[in-house]
Amino acid sequence: MKKIEAIIRPDRLEDLKYGLSKAGFTSGMTISQVLGNGNQQGFAEIVRGQKVLPTLLAKVKVEIVTSDDRVDGIVDLICKLVSTGEVGDGKIFISTIDEAIRIRTGERDGDALK
Ligand SMILES: Nc1ncnc2c1ncn2[C@@H]1O[C@H](COP(=O)(O)OP(=O)(O)OP(=O)(O)O)[C@@H](O)[C@H]1O
Ligand SMILES: [Mg+2]
Repeated sequence: MKKIEAIIRPDRLEDLKYGLSKAGFTSGMTISQVLGNGNQQGFAEIVRGQKVLPTLLAKVKVEIVTSDDRVDGIVDLICKLVSTGEVGDGKIFISTIDEAIRIRTGERDGDALK
């Protein structure tokens, strides 16, 4: 199992949710509102047509835990759905998950993700 953590622009979230669901990736996700900066340290990004100069910018973090074989498909889809081609489009981090448990049933790992 892997965890895909995608830090994206907040205004791309609706399209991402819709696109993932349309493509059949419906088994769960966690969304957080976060602050962050990348290479440009938050400078010279355009938000709603205005140039803004804070050091930390509002972003959305999307976390999806999934089986190894689905990772590439989900990553490709995220890139396609949220990219604008401008700086600040975001980053994706992938890490290994040791265990998953569905609390209601006690199912573990792959069964907990189905
Ligand atoms: N190395 C990092 N570690 C943790 N979070 C990061 C890192 N780089 C970027 N982020 C997160 O991703 C968000 C978007 O980063 P951003 O897209 O600006 O990355 P970048 O490397 O500057 O790429 P670009 O040049 O396309 O802007 C940041 O606001 C931050 O929340
Ligand atoms: Mg950047």
